[in-house]
Amino acid sequence: MSRRTKAENFDTEIDVLRTRLKDSDDLNVQDAVFDKRTLMDLYSLASKGVIDALGGSVCTGKEANIFRAIVGEKELALKIYRISTSNFNSMQDYMRGDPRFSSVKGTKRAIVAAWTRKEFRNLSRAEEVGIRVPHPIAMKENILVMDLIGEGERIAPPLKDVDLDAEEAKHIYDKIAEYISVLYNRAQLVHADLSEFNILYDVGEPVIIDMGQSVTLDHPMARKFLERDIANVAHYFKKKYNLGSPEEIWEKLRKDRDEIEKKKAD
Ligand SMILES: Nc1ncnc2c1ncn2[C@@H]1O[C@H](COP(=O)(O)OP(=O)(O)OP(=O)(O)O)[C@@H](O)[C@H]1O
Ligand SMILES: [Mg+2]
Repeated sequence: MSRRTKAENFDTEIDVLRTRLKDSDDLNVQDAVFDKRTLMDLYSLASKGVIDALGGSVCTGKEANIFRAIVGEKELALKIYRISTSNFNSMQDYMRGDPRFSSVKGTKRAIVAAWTRKEFRNLSRAEEVGIRVPHPIAMKENILVMDLIGEGERIAPPLKDVDLDAEEAKHIYDKIAEYISVLYNRAQLVHADLSEFNILYDVGEPVIIDMGQSVTLDHPMARKFLERDIANVAHYFKKKYNLGSPEEIWEKLRKDRDEIEKKKAD
């Protein structure tokens, strides 16, 4: 396909998306998500070959829209943070205490771009220590490109929307407890918004998503966030599957920490 036709097709796809969003979302969302600069950044990602085509909308979250996209045969997810409806004050609170981002200041756009970069880096760091997350592929300003979790028409549902049998539930619970521990002990990160909403269920395995707000352990609120993450997960599994407890997850976290310390000392 020539460059020109490719660009024209891309325009049509964006128009189709706008119409779909108009039909399904409140009217402000489509303008908020496809502002002029975001459109230019989408073109830039397309011209660099990071994405070939846009697909439909997956979800309109509180701060971002998730769309499908493809490159070659591969399915991608695009997370586009809406500049005008993002909560900058809370973003800045999360970033101030994180040495990687403490000096970020400036326009709303700059803050949202830093937040997007933060999510990209948190996902990479989680992936490096063996946690299943959507593989982060690229980012530009307020757009994060990552693997789509699911296949074909099937997009992995959030944990809150699935009913597991007892054995599966135990496997998922154990795996999440392990991920909390590994994230803390090996990646030195706390997710900070972990719950059945931000864990996808993909053919029998949990996948952790939505890591923009995740912080390093030196963040003044890291401990509070960890307590909340553990409480959320434990509460959900207790209520729905009569399984596990916060104490059990804390115990695992401490045991893993001690093992790492011991290895370092040897
Ligand atoms: N890589 C992905 N693959 C498949 N689905 C995804 C992916 N990333 C996000 N989603 C879907 O989009 C939803 C919103 O994504 P995410 O939680 O990252 O955004 P958010 O704006 O923080 O949303 P919310 O405010 O609802 O938490 C997720 O609950 C999930 O269903
Ligand atoms: Mg979310």
